[in-house]
Amino acid sequence: MHLSTTAQKQILLGVTGGIAAYKAAELVRLLRAEGAAVRVVMTQAARAFVTPLTFEALSNEPVHLTLLDATEESAMGHISLARWANVILIAPATADFIARLRLGLADDLLATLCLATDAPIVLAPAMNRLMWENAATQENIRCLQDRGIRVFGPAAGEQACGEVGWGRMLEPVEICNQLEWIFQNGALAGLTVLISAGPTREPIDPVRYISNRSSGRMGYALAQAAQEAGAAVSLVSGPVSLPAPRVQEMVSVERAEEMYQAVVSRAIYHDIYIGAAAVADYTPATVAISKIKKQTGETMIHLIKTPDILSAVAALEDGPFTVGFAAETDRVEDYARQKLAAKCIDMIAANRVGQTRGGFESHENALQVYWNGGQRTLEMAPKTRLARQLIELIAERYHAKNPA
Ligand code: C5P
Repeated sequence: MHLSTTAQKQILLGVTGGIAAYKAAELVRLLRAEGAAVRVVMTQAARAFVTPLTFEALSNEPVHLTLLDATEESAMGHISLARWANVILIAPATADFIARLRLGLADDLLATLCLATDAPIVLAPAMNRLMWENAATQENIRCLQDRGIRVFGPAAGEQACGEVGWGRMLEPVEICNQLEWIFQNGALAGLTVLISAGPTREPIDPVRYISNRSSGRMGYALAQAAQEAGAAVSLVSGPVSLPAPRVQEMVSVERAEEMYQAVVSRAIYHDIYIGAAAVADYTPATVAISKIKKQTGETMIHLIKTPDILSAVAALEDGPFTVGFAAETDRVEDYARQKLAAKCIDMIAANRVGQTRGGFESHENALQVYWNGGQRTLEMAPKTRLARQLIELIAERYHAKNPA
């Protein structure tokens, strides 16, 4: 029987004032059905959308509304409420609450609880798409993530205001799934993981370069998932436009040669290496010192092979458990298995590219994972969820190869 890791957990649900507050009622019902104890804290604005009575009935607990309530402070004050929580989940989290959390304000009960807890804090943002995309909100979110606060969603789609875009709160069932992951820590506890991500950029002259469409999303999601699974993570990244995840060490590189140096020099100090970067296979033989002038006719750039980072790591004596990626348009299993053998790696995650869904610039993907003597299919899913599944599988194979 599948026993949810959320069972018996004590969840403090913060509800702030957005239209998605009505979905928080369903969230309470689902969490309780999983076996969790839920206590609800509402901000003043949240009460304009849903009544405390709704949450009181669903949680079977009194709803907490004000910071200095005389009866509450004598019985269960805000400090003990903060201590009671195994996690503080704020759903929906409005742009205003996110901004106040970043500032560290303590002018209402929920904001104070967030300052007074050492439990993980999770936000499920919900707001109009322009408010979500606004530089202020994005900066606030990045800053909170840097402090270790987890952010679930938001999703894209139709919004209450009639617009379409990012900003919808995740569905309660999806929030429950992601929360389960938080309590499921430990698959990589005590291990060190080195991940390479993103494209490389091979300079032709001071203004031009050869690169590819890799967004870095998969590698960054893997870094986050490995960190959540208890590993100490080093991330070597090519140029991407993603917020840096909270990892032990972050190394930014540009060229394949730089990525090679950064990865190979660190590999022996790590238990696992995941090569998720789209490393350029070729680089210009020489880099012009000044901008190459336009020619009248054709021109040629002489390209030379870059070093294969993954093979180099796999060839190290006492090297880490190695995981590579393969992007194939056809005969996925044949080519992936050939690569597994040729590069002498432990595992390869292959995706079929050139399809309508998934791949390089997409937010979602599907993977076919192979190792010597086995394989597993990870179905089409958002890259964040897929990354967690792949990390679980890597942990399983790592422990199978290195029994305690
Ligand atoms: O051989 P191919 O490029 O298809 O293999 C892809 C895998 O090899 C990926 O894991 C990629 O990160 C890695 N790779 C590498 N160094 C290269 C080229 C690819 O580590 N120069």
